[in-house]
Amino acid sequence: MPWDRGGVPEALQRYLAAHPGEGRVLVPGCGMGYEIRAFSEADYDVVAIDFSPVAVEMARARLGPWGKFVQAGDFFTFDFGPAPFDLVYERTFLSAMPPPVWPQYARRMAELLRPKGLLAGFFFYSTEEGGPPFGLGRGQLVELFRGLFRPVADEPVTDSLPFFAGKERWQIWQRLPADSDTARAGAIATPNFDQFQCSQGGGSKREMD
Ligand SMILES: C[S@@+](CC[C@H](N)C(=O)[O-])C[C@H]1O[C@@H](n2cnc3c(N)ncnc32)[C@H](O)[C@@H]1O
Repeated sequence: MPWDRGGVPEALQRYLAAHPGEGRVLVPGCGMGYEIRAFSEADYDVVAIDFSPVAVEMARARLGPWGKFVQAGDFFTFDFGPAPFDLVYERTFLSAMPPPVWPQYARRMAELLRPKGLLAGFFFYSTEEGGPPFGLGRGQLVELFRGLFRPVADEPVTDSLPFFAGKERWQIWQRLPADSDTARAGAIATPNFDQFQCSQGGGSKREMD
């Protein structure tokens, strides 16, 4: 499995060290679920999900006591209960889906996160045809997330697997208030991502409160 990292990426380790215990986190398409233990040990309430029975079985077996956090089910239809999530962690989940499904991904993420909740993780940018993994084009997430999320952090990734090197970014997107969903109809402007990146000189930015 070329996407299997075999451990927890550095950017997530740094994030957890700086933001322990910030509520309920969802790990969708968790695969082997290396991050599940890290979230739990950082005092998050973790729910992970995968619809592959093989992945779920392997993750549970590998995780031992943390395996209880892995649910078998479909991200798009699973009943996660009434409380929304504070954080959703993304890694090679969006890129596993063909682009026509991406608007559904955006809507489902928005549905599952509380206002000001965060979608944080690794996003794969590539202009190569086909997939998986299916790469994002420049500015494509801004369009997908228009009226639903605003970008609050964007950094290069320094410990990518060779396949993803130079093509993935650590990004954090903040859920906008539900009433700004009307921005999809153009009522509220979403920040320009190119401008956002330039203003940071390619570095990172956090302004989440
Ligand atoms: C490329 S793998 C990534 C696994 C893991 N996130 C990682 O970084 O190693 C994508 C995973 O998403 C799961 N998946 C894809 N669509 C899903 C869906 N709708 N609901 C739940 N899991 C899904 C697949 O079974 C697979 O395990």
